[in-house]
Amino acid sequence: MVQFKKHDAKLYRLGAHAIYERLRDQVVSGVYAVGEKIPSTRSLAKELGVSRTTVCVAYDQLAAEGFISVSQGAQPRVAVTFPTAEEPRTDQADGMAIEAPLSRYGRHLVTIGSLPQPSSKNVVVNFRYGEVASADFPSVLWRQAMMRALSRKSKVLAYGEPEGTSALRRALQGYLWRARSISCRTDQIIIVSGSQQALDLLGRLLLNEDDSFVIENPSYAMARLAFETTGAAAIPIEVDSAGLDTSRLGDISAQLAYVTPSHQYPLGGILPIERRLSLIAWAKRTNAWIIEDDYDSEYRYDMKPLPPLWSVDDSGRVIYIGTVSKILSPTLRIGYVVVPEPLIAIFKAAKQLADRHTPLLDQDALAGLIQSGAYERHVRRQRRLNQKRRQTLIAALRTNFGTDVDIEGTSAGLHLVVWFRLLPAASEDELVERARSLGVGVYSVRPLCDPPLSSGRNEQIGLVLGYASLDPEWITYGITLLRKAIAEMEFSA
Ligand SMILES: Cc1ncc(COP(=O)(O)O)c(C=O)c1O
Repeated sequence: MVQFKKHDAKLYRLGAHAIYERLRDQVVSGVYAVGEKIPSTRSLAKELGVSRTTVCVAYDQLAAEGFISVSQGAQPRVAVTFPTAEEPRTDQADGMAIEAPLSRYGRHLVTIGSLPQPSSKNVVVNFRYGEVASADFPSVLWRQAMMRALSRKSKVLAYGEPEGTSALRRALQGYLWRARSISCRTDQIIIVSGSQQALDLLGRLLLNEDDSFVIENPSYAMARLAFETTGAAAIPIEVDSAGLDTSRLGDISAQLAYVTPSHQYPLGGILPIERRLSLIAWAKRTNAWIIEDDYDSEYRYDMKPLPPLWSVDDSGRVIYIGTVSKILSPTLRIGYVVVPEPLIAIFKAAKQLADRHTPLLDQDALAGLIQSGAYERHVRRQRRLNQKRRQTLIAALRTNFGTDVDIEGTSAGLHLVVWFRLLPAASEDELVERARSLGVGVYSVRPLCDPPLSSGRNEQIGLVLGYASLDPEWITYGITLLRKAIAEMEFSA
């Protein structure tokens, strides 16, 4: 029986097209099996109170499109079946379908998954690392720089060069020399849409499915994921308070090593010069690339800066990545890579395929800020502001937890790690949850450790606390809430 509502025809005087649509939808949605009879034109016309010609027109159209078969003297039958819609099968909590026909890259991505973005709902004081206070953004300067960029009108709006504008690359060349003693040619600098794009492109350019890459343990998850998605295998090397333990490198064979020597992410160690030299010596011995992620090097507090690996290396193996995410805003999506000579052309080609180029107006505005000196003044201002936030956080941790905590990685950057020596790691998730219920967002270090650390730290609760988005008063308040959360837990009784 065709499922028409009795009043359909009467109220709306069903035409041929409406009858055709309803029947077609029922076939498509799997109401009928293939071969199943549908009413004859005569009986359906009677049932709907329309002329037989109207039904014949609808049936002819359905037959022409292959939905039904009609033959002289026989009752029309359904000619095709459509599978009934099922919930897509998924393998991952984040809902990526495993059944879809995907490339190898896609399949790796399904296996590896993406990083969940923790919700900020009901979080009053959020120590989420990576966020920057919007009040710190130099809005007036940026607006002026944008206006100047906009006023430089060209006749046509044309795609730019994949490597970025020459104005920005020249400005960065000077900045990198002044701020990081990096001496490079402008053609070695390529503008990317955030460091993340550099990591993604480098993974695709340098890693094959069966390759390996050395990575710090714990490490920056977004780098590890970008590299693992190529199908290459991670060789995690444990980190201590001075960063990557290069004595463990030995003769490990890997295509590349990804490191954060200026301020290890997340533990905060600063790689001493001997380890820098030994890392470069390893890369030379094993013919590996080194990716140096200098993501927060502008923030150094009570220490002298060490030269980046780029300037220590004499073999052209270091690829240097920088970003404006920590100084201006992570929402801008502007980063830069300094690549060794043999990678210039290929990196530009990959960048062009990825997104042609990073937005030109933003590049022009940033170039203007750097050229005028405003960027470096802003860097100094940000360093002062974050120095204050950092001191407030350390003081709040000491006031609330005394010597029960070890605080690591404080001499640089925008985050620190706090280890609760007396609190068992097994309770880490519960603490994070309980803190959240009191309105404070804190983040566990454990998901970044794979495999688990061999040091005693593995038994302790460890939290990564980012402070760049918080006013000092809120930092203090947040840590008192964290103490409250701990006090509510069983082990503290
Ligand atoms: C280790 C590391 N590298 C790079 C970045 C910045 O990435 P992007 O430039 O893509 O914003 C971050 C941000 O949190 C980071 O922690």
